[in-house]
Amino acid sequence: MLEADPWDEYAGTWDDDPAARAYATATFASFQDVLAQRDLDLVGAAVCDFGSGTGLLTERLADLAAQIDAVDTSSAMLAVLDAKVEAHGWTAVRTSTALPNSQASHDLIVCSSVCSFLPDYPGTVSTLVALLRPGGLFVQWDWEAEPGSDDHGLSRDEITSALGAADLIDVRVDTAFEIAFEGETIRPLIGVGQKR
Ligand SMILES: C[S@@+](CC[C@H](N)C(=O)[O-])C[C@H]1O[C@@H](n2cnc3c(N)ncnc32)[C@H](O)[C@@H]1O
Repeated sequence: MLEADPWDEYAGTWDDDPAARAYATATFASFQDVLAQRDLDLVGAAVCDFGSGTGLLTERLADLAAQIDAVDTSSAMLAVLDAKVEAHGWTAVRTSTALPNSQASHDLIVCSSVCSFLPDYPGTVSTLVALLRPGGLFVQWDWEAEPGSDDHGLSRDEITSALGAADLIDVRVDTAFEIAFEGETIRPLIGVGQKR
C-alpha cells in the first residue's frame, strides 16, 4: 500500500483558501517583475514548478509557457492539479512526483513555499539547478525566519548561501511582497539566481 504524504490531507481544501490564492497571485506578480527586470520571457519557456501542490502558480503559467513540469511529493495535491489540467486542456502541463530525468532542459524553475520544508534544502537547490539551461533562472518564495530562530521559514542568509553553493550567479534575496494572511501582514522572501 502507498504511504500517505503529510500534505495529502490539505489537497481537498487548498484551493478554497483565499489566503493561498492571494499568496499565489502575489507570487505570480513578483515573478513577472523578476522576469521583466532580467529581460526574460515566460512565453514559450520550459518551466519546472517544484512543490507545485494543486498548481496555484502552475495555473497562472499554463497558457504562457511551452512546457511546465509540476513536481510534488503529494499525489493528492497533484490529483487536484490533474483535474484542472484536464478541465482546462492545458497541454503544456505535466505532473509528476519525480523530477524530470534531464539536464540543462529548463529555462525557469519556480519553488513557491516549498524550500523550507525540504530535508536537504541546499542539496535540492543544486539538483534543481542542474535542470536549468545556461542563463536559466531559479526563483523561490518562502516565509522569512530570523537567523537562528525556530520560526518556520528560511533566513536571507540561508537562501543566499544555498543559491551561491548551487553556483548560481546574480543572486538576489529580497522581500517579495506584502499581504494580509490569517489576520497578520506577512512579507515573504524571494530568492533569485541565474545559471551561468
Ligand atoms: C505550502 S505548499 C505550497 C504549494 C504550492 N506551491 C502553492 O504555492 O500553492 C508546499 C508543497 O510542497 C510540497 N512538498 C513538500 N516537500 C516536498 C519535496 N521534498 N519535494 C517536492 N514537493 C514537496 C508539498 O506536498 C506541498 O504541496
